[in-house]
Amino acid sequence: PTQVVVAGIGGYLPRRVVTNADLASTIETTDDWIVERTGIRQRHLVEDGENTVSMAAAAARIALDAAGVAHDGVEAVILATATPDDAFPASAVRVLNELGAIDGFGFDISAACSGFIYALSVAEAFIASGRIRNALVIGSEVYSRLMDWNDRRTCVLFGDGAGAVFLRAEPQGEGQPKRGILSTHLHADGSLGDLLYVDGAVGQRERSGYLHMNGREVFRHAVGKLSGAVSEALEANGLTAEDIDWLVPHQANLRIIDGVGRKLNLPADRVVVTVDRHANTSAASIPLALYEAHRDGRIQPGQLVLLEALGGGMTWGSALLRM
Ligand code: ACO
Repeated sequence: PTQVVVAGIGGYLPRRVVTNADLASTIETTDDWIVERTGIRQRHLVEDGENTVSMAAAAARIALDAAGVAHDGVEAVILATATPDDAFPASAVRVLNELGAIDGFGFDISAACSGFIYALSVAEAFIASGRIRNALVIGSEVYSRLMDWNDRRTCVLFGDGAGAVFLRAEPQGEGQPKRGILSTHLHADGSLGDLLYVDGAVGQRERSGYLHMNGREVFRHAVGKLSGAVSEALEANGLTAEDIDWLVPHQANLRIIDGVGRKLNLPADRVVVTVDRHANTSAASIPLALYEAHRDGRIQPGQLVLLEALGGGMTWGSALLRM
């Protein structure tokens, strides 16, 4: 049987770091308030010339080099983003061009902070069905474009960045446990759309284009829905939380991450956290966290890694991987 393995992981963060103290010099906030409520200490924000496509391509190149494959051999790019550089062409198609992958196809996925899980699920289905043999799954976001930088309730929470994984079909080793993507579960509830949204679309000039959020309500839904998603993934695979080597959650807020970890009785040293340094990079946060924990040697081959996310929509879901 075929398995869909993670053959390479990459990430990119803009060089420019903005600390809480930097923000406190322009809006009425404090480092203490932000750290206490969110765990965020700093965020990376794009500089001139950086955008969703450039960051996605940079992360993709690292993932492809790690996998040892030629950049022009990519068959599909599935890019999760709420901040495409243009309404069309899709940013994914521009990434294909950057990589010289002229035989590939690509499209963007819009599922806000759950986008990477959605994209991973779609790519896995394409590969498992035999339609393609490999795919780049990318989350790349320039949330600094969606911020009202005078709104302290939202602008302190987000950052820019990109992460990528290269998926590849491989035969399952005889007598070996299945590797790669073991399950994905996706959910959405459109009745909760007004809790977190960016108003306006391209050309709607009377709309603000800024992100709006009911933080309390998002928080209330987040821990319950994410714990449910994690339980669902464990049950579907006949596992308990004990079996999970690493939880790699979407990085929105340390209190949400801790809340889910506690509900599962998962010790904090098995939860990957980057939100303190990256803030919330939406669809990029999970692949960036995977990249970091894989690169520093925490995540090892053969280990079970559970990904979970929740975001605007509301959308939420999980993916279970064996590295
Ligand atoms: N600095 C100082 N004070 C602030 C700030 C700030 N940056 N932001 C808000 N405040 C003030 C508010 O104005 C309010 O003051 P008031 O009572 O005088 O009006 C007070 O702090 C409390 O505001 P709340 O919004 O009630 O604060 P809360 O304790 O709920 O914390 C937070 C806000 C951190 C956003 C919290 O609700 C939260 O973590 N929600 C989860 C939402 C989240 O993480 N969203 C990310 C996107 S969704 C996702 O990716 C899953």
